[in-house]
Amino acid sequence: MARVTGLADKQFLAVQYRDASNLKSRMSIHRRFSTNPYGLLRWIFERFNLPPVCRILELGCGSGNLWMDNDGRIPDGWDVRLTDASVGMLGQARRNLGQSRRPYGFGAVDAQRIPFAGATFDAVIADHMLYHVPDRKKALMEIQRILKPGGRFYASTVGRGHMRELAELVAGFDPALDAWGAGHLDADTFMLENGAAQLTPLFTDVLLHRYEDALVVTEPAPLVEYILSGRITLDAEQRASLTKYVEEKMERAGGAFRIEKETGIFEAVRG
Ligand SMILES: C[S@@+](CC[C@H](N)C(=O)[O-])C[C@H]1O[C@@H](n2cnc3c(N)ncnc32)[C@H](O)[C@@H]1O
Repeated sequence: MARVTGLADKQFLAVQYRDASNLKSRMSIHRRFSTNPYGLLRWIFERFNLPPVCRILELGCGSGNLWMDNDGRIPDGWDVRLTDASVGMLGQARRNLGQSRRPYGFGAVDAQRIPFAGATFDAVIADHMLYHVPDRKKALMEIQRILKPGGRFYASTVGRGHMRELAELVAGFDPALDAWGAGHLDADTFMLENGAAQLTPLFTDVLLHRYEDALVVTEPAPLVEYILSGRITLDAEQRASLTKYVEEKMERAGGAFRIEKETGIFEAVRG
């Protein structure tokens, strides 16, 4: 059984985000089994405190889900540029948003080296991506540089206890397996618990908004698919025994397996 460590591990990221398939299978469990019916991406959009005319840069846009879920209500005056370090993810974002009635800009950008002049954007968005960036300090300095004075930075992330029950389920199946990788709980990742401390040296008015949610999963297959969309690779026989293990656990839990989420978004201002 293969295991790679670290959320910012280069090799892991190259494989994980070669295309949108892994992210898609992880998102589908959230879409189908979340207890909060509102939807994280709609909620995130409503945290944006921005004027009707502004320039917005998204880093690590993935397949463009944030804009797809909010496409009908984006002010016409918002000039939105979606970027990602992975060309595969960016291609999917282009395909997903290509039919939209509003134009979006696209570009391949590594958050550690942002190819824009200083004071270009009114807002920068980093939705569940900063924990993947190896030199986060550099990325945060880049974000501060390209924001106009008074511009806003939005960075969503997870907490240390996020989906803990899933990691416990995996470890219960095989204690040698680690669902998130050894770097997940390191003090220097970007999480709800330590995000403000990383933002305050560069930004003012740092606020954290939390989104209350959990998963109540009633089918074993999506759970197995979620587990295998990350760092764990199993052969057919191992996969069958994981499926059996999950089925038994779910049955013992009364047919519904509950997984708590810890998610939120930081809002910060360039002074
Ligand atoms: C967990 S996904 C989140 C995607 C999207 N923001 C969402 O929430 O659906 C993380 C994304 O960050 C991108 N990424 C990782 N490291 C990056 C970097 N250094 N600069 C820009 N994007 C990066 C990955 O390619 C991936 O698309």
